[in-house]
Amino acid sequence: MKQKIIIANWKMKLNIKESLELAREYAQKFADEAATGGKEIAVCPANIALREAKDIFAPSAVKIGAQNVFWEEQGAFTGEISVTMLEEAGCQYVIIGHSERRQYLLENYEMAHLKLKTVLDHSNIIPIVCVGESLKEKESDRRDYVIIDQIQQTFGGVQILSQQQVIIAYEPIWAIGTGQVIKPADADTMHEIIHAALVDLFGIDVINKQFRIIYGGSVDSANVSDFSQLDNIDGLLVGGASLKAEDFYKIVKGI
Ligand code: PGA
Repeated sequence: MKQKIIIANWKMKLNIKESLELAREYAQKFADEAATGGKEIAVCPANIALREAKDIFAPSAVKIGAQNVFWEEQGAFTGEISVTMLEEAGCQYVIIGHSERRQYLLENYEMAHLKLKTVLDHSNIIPIVCVGESLKEKESDRRDYVIIDQIQQTFGGVQILSQQQVIIAYEPIWAIGTGQVIKPADADTMHEIIHAALVDLFGIDVINKQFRIIYGGSVDSANVSDFSQLDNIDGLLVGGASLKAEDFYKIVKGI
């Protein structure tokens, strides 16, 4: 059994003050390993709150991650943030290719591939790579193909060293922030498909030891128990329901 990880994605929903207040509540709720029930907890606040949030989390069991990274290590890239900067700020995780960035900033899987390579080649940060189909793709019955293609584009030609860990977040776009939750059995099937696509690329040993496949999309404290029975789900990526410490706490307890 892999250690489950529950990741909070605060997106751009909180200002700095609100982020730090919520960070304090998280640090209290997850004061030590015992409070997490053996699960790993990571929070991805806005970049501007990263360092202060990291200090707040330091005495607790909460780890910190970023919502994005640029694919070059350094240079004239106005407004971007490098993997070295994230590491300096204490990040242990970074989200790559979130569907909101694909939608609003036209990011694609070629960019996700470059970002993934930079993170693996130049840091000890664990990448959280997002994949997921749109409603149209789901309804066109091409869903499996779309996901396999996203994985091949992102991971093709990438080397994973034996000490490196990778997280894949399966997040159907139609389920993100919509309150529309996937049927647990469907999520289970998709995780199997993702697992098989990854095994094709890296072999079963690497996937079983170094990869975790988590689910995201409208998970909350009421529906989390539906996911707790599923063998193929190694954790959750939670947006909306992570904005209240008590709700997130219930999710962690419930999975
Ligand atoms: P949601 O967001 O839980 O609000 O659907 C999930 C995500 O975007 O990672």
